[in-house]
Amino acid sequence: MLIPQFGLKRITAMRPAIQAVVDGLIDAMLEQGSGADLVAAFALPVPSMVICRLLGVPYADHDFFEGRSRALLTAPTAEELRAPREELTDYLHRLVDAKEHGRAAADGGLLDELITERLAEGRLDRDELVQMALILLVAGHETTANMISLGTYTLLEHPDQLAALRADPALMAGAVEELLRFLSIADGMVRVALEDIELAGHTIRAGDGVLLPTSVINRDAAVYDHPDALDVRRVARHHVAFGYGVHQCLGQNLARAEMEIALTTLITRIPTLRPALAPDELVVGPGGVVKPGSTLQGLYALPVTW
Ligand code: HEM
Repeated sequence: MLIPQFGLKRITAMRPAIQAVVDGLIDAMLEQGSGADLVAAFALPVPSMVICRLLGVPYADHDFFEGRSRALLTAPTAEELRAPREELTDYLHRLVDAKEHGRAAADGGLLDELITERLAEGRLDRDELVQMALILLVAGHETTANMISLGTYTLLEHPDQLAALRADPALMAGAVEELLRFLSIADGMVRVALEDIELAGHTIRAGDGVLLPTSVINRDAAVYDHPDALDVRRVARHHVAFGYGVHQCLGQNLARAEMEIALTTLITRIPTLRPALAPDELVVGPGGVVKPGSTLQGLYALPVTW
């Protein structure tokens, strides 16, 4: 149902709006001085503002839904998932209700479109609409934020690759694919076998759980030369960082556009950008800056100077 809304044509039309968001955040960083936390000042607000605009969710509520989204994606037990999921669901029910009954101004966002074209015509019920909005809101910012922060750090740690991109910005679209492959942040794809599967001399039995670590698949030496090296000129587009098959990432065109615009603008407008932390200061876990890699890898914070 949503594929046209996330197709290349619609996303290409959003590029000027994405560029404006990116420029506004960089203006604010430059105005504030010569140092910032890149996650709070840039990597998180870029996708958060963009998904808010796309859906028609007020960005003013971002602290609320960013916190709940992070809790949802990192909850170690099903029990700890419940509260953030319920709070977000309630929030979106209230928002859809306000939009449907004219208490929230129409903004031309996807929620308005789905309310008039689907909900009103009975082709989608309210719970389905709210669940859809929930998935898009959560999947739409935390993932891309992690890619922007880790992608920036990775480029800063590979000065030769960064220099190649500065010399030829047209390489950035390919570099984004390579960063997606190299970082493979969404590492927790899981499936259940529906029937016995023979694979490389092993049998996966019907009912068995299957873990598909994208970080391993994307560094397969049979597919990529020097898979552990970052090479922005590599043709990496057949990676599985967005999943594989019918359930592969719905937001991939949007994520690609956001990453390309965010990284290009950042390295062009702040050419002296550098991390304010040495690699051995990148402590993993709460209190440190690196999120403990379970299902989604990323950074809580990235202090930078310029
Ligand atoms: C760089 C950023 C992103 C990465 C690395 C990423 C990664 C993924 C992966 C690996 C899957 C497949 C999960 C599986 O098969 O179990 C997926 C699914 C999905 N993603 Fe993304 N994603 C990103 C950005 C986004 C954005 C921006 C949106 C929405 C605006 C989004 C919406 C979705 C949705 C709705 C699905 C489920 C599709 C389905 O089940 O049919 N993602 N994503």
